[in-house]
Amino acid sequence: MGKRSWELDLSKSPTELLAHIGARMDTFFEEELAGLLGGETYLAEAARYMLRGGGKRVRPALVILSAWSCRGPMAIDFNALLALAAATELMHTYSLVHDDLPCMDDDDTRRGRPSCHVMFGVESAVWAGDSLQMEAIRLLHASLHKPALLRDAVGVLAKGCGFQGMVGGQWLDLLWEGTEPTWEKVKRIHAQKTAALMSSCGELGALAGNADQEERYILRRFGCNVGLAFQAIDDLLDVVGDESTVGKRTGKDLAAGKMSMAGVAGITETRRYAEDLVGKMVADVERLEGEAAPSLAELARHLLRRTN
Ligand code: IPE
Ligand code: IPE
Ligand code: MG
Ligand code: MG
Ligand code: MG
Repeated sequence: MGKRSWELDLSKSPTELLAHIGARMDTFFEEELAGLLGGETYLAEAARYMLRGGGKRVRPALVILSAWSCRGPMAIDFNALLALAAATELMHTYSLVHDDLPCMDDDDTRRGRPSCHVMFGVESAVWAGDSLQMEAIRLLHASLHKPALLRDAVGVLAKGCGFQGMVGGQWLDLLWEGTEPTWEKVKRIHAQKTAALMSSCGELGALAGNADQEERYILRRFGCNVGLAFQAIDDLLDVVGDESTVGKRTGKDLAAGKMSMAGVAGITETRRYAEDLVGKMVADVERLEGEAAPSLAELARHLLRRTN
């Protein structure tokens, strides 16, 4: 199977690449999630609202570019690759819906619009989030026809989202609110709530790209470092970001007593930490031979420049 069955110009800037992949995701959701997106129930409306609400689509981009950074022929066709990428975005979107709930971060703005529970009520937001995560699993089941690949993909995605991953990290994030801030707590929260799913994205790309053991290891680590740097910058943007640009309320982490890296280490040190990670990521992808490896390096550098 060829690497590029649709036009994705890898010479584009990271911003343009993300926009292009985002547009492909939008189309994919419209075509493949007709039951959810076309449904007339209030619940379907809530899920549709979130899925059509934009977002940077960083996780799908990570899956696709990771797959194309492997040297071998692809293990799956392009539609299945899109499904794999979309599954990570569904999981991520569910995590955002729940993250904003009054019993969690209590945020009324997401992606520049009222949060899901503000629009549809708390009960529907909870169920919309739940339905999004199940749609991710259903999508994998419907799209990955090789049993071994399906088994591995479900395992990798679940590991990134479950007890040792995103959910466990989100729980710690709340548990440690208002406690003594330490670097160790911040690192642990970041590793779980954000980097675990990103790490799964790299590894899912590796599965799709027929990676050998070394490539799979590099891509898993790359994804993890993307997540660590990404959350460090997110904490930073909460302090220095502009609300209309980031699309969510700022200044909330410290007010809520969150374990924020910017709070624990300060702005300069947080930025330096993210820069060090990006250096490691760039060195890592230099060992990959697939055609999208330079785009992964560009994506890594872009993390430092992001303003939303
Ligand atoms: C927000 O993720 C939650 C974090 C892990 C910091 P994103 O910044 O990727 O959110 P969207 O998808 O672009 O809205
Ligand atoms: C949430 O971290 C990470 C998730 C897994 C959703 P934050 O709570 O800092 O994310 P934002 O700032 O609300 O997007
Ligand atoms: Mg949170
Ligand atoms: Mg939040
Ligand atoms: Mg944040």
